[in-house]
Amino acid sequence: MVVDDKVKEAVAEEVAQHPLDPLSVEEIDRAVGIAKTDTHLGETPLFETIVMREPDKEQVLNYQTGNHVPREAFLVALNPKNGEVYELLVSLDTDELLESKHITGVQPAFIFGDQETNFLEFESKIKHDTRFVAALNRRGITNPDLVMIDPWPISNFGNKSEEGKRLAVGRCWVRRERTDNGYARPIEGLSVIIDLNKSEIFEIQDFGVVPIPPEDGNYAARYQESFRTDLKPIEITQPEGPSFTVTGNEVKWQKWQLRVGYTPREGLVIHNVTYEDQGKARPILYRGALSEMVVPYGDPTNDHYKKQVFDSGEVGIGKCANSLELGCDCLGEIYYFDVSLYDITGKAGIQKNVICMHEEDFGVLWKHTDNRIGETEVRRSRRLVVSFFTTVGNYEYGFFWYFYQDGSIDYQVKLTGVVNSSAVPPNVKPKNGTLVAPQVVAHNHQHYFNVRLDMMVDGQQNSVYEVDTVRDPISADNQHGNAFSVKKTVLSEENDFPRKVDPFAARYWTVANHSSHNYMGEPVSYKIAPGENVLPFHHDDAVIMKRAAFMTGHMWATEYDRDEMFAAGNYPNQHAGGDGLPKWMSGNRNLEDKDVVIWYTFGHNHIPRLEDWPVMPVAYTGFSIRPSGFFDRNPALDVPPSSAHCNCQGECKC
Ligand code: NI
Repeated sequence: MVVDDKVKEAVAEEVAQHPLDPLSVEEIDRAVGIAKTDTHLGETPLFETIVMREPDKEQVLNYQTGNHVPREAFLVALNPKNGEVYELLVSLDTDELLESKHITGVQPAFIFGDQETNFLEFESKIKHDTRFVAALNRRGITNPDLVMIDPWPISNFGNKSEEGKRLAVGRCWVRRERTDNGYARPIEGLSVIIDLNKSEIFEIQDFGVVPIPPEDGNYAARYQESFRTDLKPIEITQPEGPSFTVTGNEVKWQKWQLRVGYTPREGLVIHNVTYEDQGKARPILYRGALSEMVVPYGDPTNDHYKKQVFDSGEVGIGKCANSLELGCDCLGEIYYFDVSLYDITGKAGIQKNVICMHEEDFGVLWKHTDNRIGETEVRRSRRLVVSFFTTVGNYEYGFFWYFYQDGSIDYQVKLTGVVNSSAVPPNVKPKNGTLVAPQVVAHNHQHYFNVRLDMMVDGQQNSVYEVDTVRDPISADNQHGNAFSVKKTVLSEENDFPRKVDPFAARYWTVANHSSHNYMGEPVSYKIAPGENVLPFHHDDAVIMKRAAFMTGHMWATEYDRDEMFAAGNYPNQHAGGDGLPKWMSGNRNLEDKDVVIWYTFGHNHIPRLEDWPVMPVAYTGFSIRPSGFFDRNPALDVPPSSAHCNCQGECKC
C-alpha cells in the first residue's frame, strides 16, 4: 500500500498532534526564525540540531487527546565566524526564545562551510587548489574532476595545532571514468585537512606516493556483462491490506501499539511500546533508539590510525537517510513515513519515504504433532518491521526493529555498501587488512552500536539482573554431575556496570518489575538477549577507548535523566573522551526499583573478505528483547491457524 500523498495529508489534518511527534517543517522554520533573533549566532548561523524537545515523561504518560503539553524545539547552532556553539530552547507555543547557552570546548557534528550548503561545492574547490593538484600530478592524476574527497572526522590525538579548530580529514580516491566505482582506486598517502569553519584547506598531508591500483571494481548493473536467468518472480500480496493501522505516528498491529519518531542524529526512534494482554495494554519500552555508533579501524600506517568514526554523533545517521523505493528496498504492502529534515542554514523540507513499515511472514511460530491422536497444530509467525537505511560515505546501514506475535522484539543492523579501501604497492601483503583486489586493501575494523532502551516493564520502577547458567557442584544432591541451574544476581547500582557477554555462561540480563507478578508469583521481566558480540582489540590507552568508552562493555544501565541521551556524550566530534556513560555513572546512582535506562552495546568484527568486494553482501548484527516471565504462558496461542490444514486431525496431511 503506497499511501497517496493527498490521502496522507487528509489523514494528518484530522489527527491531533501528539507530544512525541517530531517537529514539522513549519515548526522547524518557525524555531529557526526565533533562534536567529539571538545576535550571538551572527549573520549566517549554521544549524547542527533542530529537534523536538521531548516533554517530561509524566506529561507524556498522562497525556490524553486535547491536553496541552508545552511544545518546545531544541537547537544547536554554530556561529562560523567565531566558532562559538550555542544551545537554544524555543517555545513553539509562545514563539519565544526561552534559553540560549554558550557551550565551550565542544565541536558540533559535521556541518560544512559557511558558504557552501552542499559538500560537493566545497569538494570541487579543494580539488582545484594548486597544492592539491600538484600532489595529484605527483601520482600521475591529471584530471582533478575524477577525484573524490570524502570528509572524515579527525578524531582527537591531542595535536596542539588542531585545538579549537573545527577540522575534518578529506580522504581521496579517483574514478577511471565519471560514473565508475571510485573506491576501487584509493589515492594512498594523500589527505587534506579541511578547516570547516573557514571552508578552506588547513593542511595537505602527503605521506609518499603509492601507485594507483590498476583494476576496476564495479558493481553497477551497467558494468555487469550478463545476469543469471533462472529467477522467477516473487510477489508478496495482501489482498485485504496489511493488519496494522496508522494514526499520525501511532501504529497498532495486533496486540502491539507503538509510536514512530525520528531525529537527525538517531534516525528512527520507537516510543511507548505496549502489548495488550488480557485486555490491558502493558508497557514494555518508553523509548528506544540508536544512541551512538563508532567504527574504529585497525591499521597504524600513514593517517589510517585516525579512522574512528561516530556515524551517529559526528555525522548524523538520520540526516544521511535514504528515500526508499517500493519493490527495491521494501517488498509488499508498505507504509512509508516521511520525515522533516533541514539543511545547515536551517531551511526545512520533507524527505519522502524514509521509514518503511510492513509485515513479513516469518516461518513457523509454534508447532506440535501429537502422534498418538494424529493431531498437528502449527501457526505461522508474522512480524512487523519498522526500518530505515542510511548512507554514510562508502557504507550503508539499515536499522531494523522487528515486533513478533509472541511479545519478542529484535533490533538488527544490516551493514552493506563499499568497504573502506586503501592502496599498497604491488606485491605487498598488508598485516592489518585484506587484499580485496590487486593493490587494494580493506583494513580490519569493527562496528559498534549502542542502543538506548528506556525500559518500562509494567511500569517505570524496574530492576536489572544478570542471569548466568552454572554447573552445580557434585554433592549428595548431584551425584551424577548432570545438574545445572541459574544464578541470578541483582545489579543494584551504576558501578555494577558495564557487564560483558559470556556465551559460556549463556548470560543474559533481565529488566524486572518487583511490584508486578506473573502467574507463578515471580516479578515480571523482559530479557536483553545478546546476539553476536565482541570487544575492542585496541590497547587500553588507545585514544578511541576513552572517546568511545561505551564499546568497552556490553550491558550498561543508568537511572533515567532526560538529558542523558548519547552514549559518548552530546558532542563526540573532536572530543578527547570521557563524556557520556562513564561520566554519568560516576555518581553511582542506585538502580533498584528505579526508572532504569539500559544502554546495550554490540559489536561486529569486520575482517574483510574477498566476497565483500566491490560491494558488500549484507552482514547482520543485533540483539533481542524477549519476554521472560512477563506473560503467564505463550501469549500467541490465540494466533489463528492460517488455513484449515494447519490444525489437522486424523487423516489430514499437512
Ligand atoms: Ni565493516
